[in-house]
Amino acid sequence: MPALERLFHPGDKDRLYPVIARRVSCRGFAAPLSTADWAAVSYLAGRYQLPGARLYLTRVEESLFTGTLLGPGRVTGCQAVAVVVASSSIPRARLHAGILGEALCLEAAAMNLASCWITGTYRKKQLSVPLQPGEAIMGVIALGHPAEGVLQPGNRRRKPLEKLCKGDVHAWPEELVRAARAVLMAPSALNLQPWEMTVAPGRFCVDAGERAQLDLGIALCHAEIALRSSHAWRFAAVRKDPAAWAQLDEYKEDNHHGAS
Ligand SMILES: Cc1cc2nc3c(=O)[nH]c(=O)nc-3n(C[C@H](O)[C@H](O)[C@H](O)COP(=O)(O)O)c2cc1C
Repeated sequence: MPALERLFHPGDKDRLYPVIARRVSCRGFAAPLSTADWAAVSYLAGRYQLPGARLYLTRVEESLFTGTLLGPGRVTGCQAVAVVVASSSIPRARLHAGILGEALCLEAAAMNLASCWITGTYRKKQLSVPLQPGEAIMGVIALGHPAEGVLQPGNRRRKPLEKLCKGDVHAWPEELVRAARAVLMAPSALNLQPWEMTVAPGRFCVDAGERAQLDLGIALCHAEIALRSSHAWRFAAVRKDPAAWAQLDEYKEDNHHGAS
């Protein structure tokens, strides 16, 4: 099973990087997935693999979705979801679930399909998913063709880059600023954007709280797609470490401007 740094071929990265800027959460769907879409999405849901996490594509009724009084409104017109499943017995399974789910969202956007991560505003009990012992449903990704005019990536509300990055982000190497910007555009639960990015010699670090493992995985998916130079992902072994960092040979020595 591949590690994160081997999840995407260079050609996949070239294809998916521009999609990061146009992916936007969709809550109004028009046409359901065609048979051809369904086949393509099923293939993609199985194509990306990481330990302890999987995506299960299933048809759903619109009544699966609920709304909140003050939230962005319930999802309408959606007839298919990818159920995001993670195992409690495999290390970093929730993080892996975030990575796989977001890879699917970006692949869907590349096919001009729309998506929305949903972990709160749905009726979990309404889903019928065969689960292995220790597996749990983390949420669903609504999928389908967007209703006209609902997708507006230009209206994205995001914190300034400087707020998510510790140290002088403008002094970081260009590639790492590109990775940080890719993280900035990632979706997150309640749009909390719980990430903190730092650069240390030879390291691009991404942190998020223990309760935000899906959001962290989503951010790492975007960072991985943006990174081009050779690197390997490492994960915190002790609490004082950031949750994850890309170890990059390229910036080992004197190129670590803005390190904190
Ligand atoms: C892990 C996760 C859970 C989410 N859960 C919900 C949800 O329950 N209901 C909802 O309407 N949107 C949900 N969203 C969508 C976010 O509200 C959305 O990503 C965020 O507001 C940023 O907007 P954007 O995706 O259009 O950039 C979720 C997003 C993520 C990443």
